[in-house]
Amino acid sequence: MKILVTGGTGYIGSHTVVELQSKGYEVIIVDDLSNSSIEVLDNIAKITGEIPLFEQFDLTDAGKTGAFFRKHNDLRGIIHFAAFKAVGESVDFPLKYYHNNLVSLINILQGMMDNNILNIVFSSSCTVYGQPDKLPVKEEAPVQKAWSPYGNTKQISEEIISDTSKVSGIQGILLRYFNPIGAHETALIGELPLGVPNSLMPYITQTAIGKRPFLRVWGSDYNTPDGTAVRDYLHVSDLARAHVIAVERMLDNKMKQKVEVFNLGTGNGFSVMQVIESFERSTGVKLNYQIMDRRPGDIEKVWADTGYANKELGWKAEKSLDEMTASAWKWEKALAEKGR
Ligand code: NAD
Ligand code: WQD
Repeated sequence: MKILVTGGTGYIGSHTVVELQSKGYEVIIVDDLSNSSIEVLDNIAKITGEIPLFEQFDLTDAGKTGAFFRKHNDLRGIIHFAAFKAVGESVDFPLKYYHNNLVSLINILQGMMDNNILNIVFSSSCTVYGQPDKLPVKEEAPVQKAWSPYGNTKQISEEIISDTSKVSGIQGILLRYFNPIGAHETALIGELPLGVPNSLMPYITQTAIGKRPFLRVWGSDYNTPDGTAVRDYLHVSDLARAHVIAVERMLDNKMKQKVEVFNLGTGNGFSVMQVIESFERSTGVKLNYQIMDRRPGDIEKVWADTGYANKELGWKAEKSLDEMTASAWKWEKALAEKGR
């Protein structure tokens, strides 16, 4: 059972490779290492005892992607993580984002069609909901006009997969992640943000380790219990596990429609201040922070209705917020020990 994981040396991809291997799947990773490092392969092998197959190339290269699919026409499924994901950068360099995220998907779908490979799991995002009218947000809530080119690539990708499924045997599962944080319990793999992180969790751990002077809390005047913005944080290993279930659903012909959409979150919203409190409680480390104005483009609050994923996938996020923040800290300390 050979599964292609694009972006498999990245943050969520590497955790998913671990889950797939531990379930006995043969994994082949394609990654151009534009936002990850080759050592991840060894670290995956330290966890699972098995080094995944690996090919390094850029999936926007149609020739290389086509040749890859001809060589590996025995693939049973694809989990497609490879994409650029920095929201702010996508506003400054829209073509870079549209080109990378859409052309790579088109090349993959073409390779699937040409070689009769039928199953794709796609990394989508809660960003497609914008600020929903009703919370918790369900999968059928309207997709709102994207605020960033990055968000738009997720919306367009969902449509590309859906349209392609109508004219081919391809079936797709679109997974809309909420806010994945934390790292593998071994602290051998985790998130490796390049430069100054935009996301909350790595910014917290980098502040606590002394790489940043203080965390800036973006806004305390939101209509939330403590005034700071609310998100649905989930542990990356819980998220990774859902991908294996999604692949199995396709292989076992359990899909109810050719394209299915699932929210992946815990179903609980936590504010920025609650995440800080959790970090301090779970690690015993005091965090420096300052309240600032709101960050432009941020939404006030969002959390998932996970009922559909719970029922149909039989999946539930299990780890608590304290486990998430503790694991993120363990990973940051492991990086510091390696001088990174
Ligand atoms: P990541 O940057 O750690 O991993 C993406 C990987 O894809 C990297 O290893 C990168 O080198 C590779 N890559 C990018 N473009 C490529 C290309 N053209 N060819 C080959 N390899 C390429 O990101 P992540 O956090 O693991 O995110 C994985 C997916 O999940 C992305 O599609 C992202 O948009 C989506 N997502 C992430 C989050 C989040 O908060 N991390 C939330 C929602 C959705
Ligand atoms: C979380 C909360 C910030 C940093 C992003 C993408 C979205 C999706 C998930 C990919 C917010 C606050 C943050 C800091 C802070 N990704 N914050 N100080 O904005 O929910 O979503 O990741 O698809 O598309 O936009 O995540 O981690 O940046 O922020 O106060 O230094 O933490 O304002 O309320 P966000 P985040």
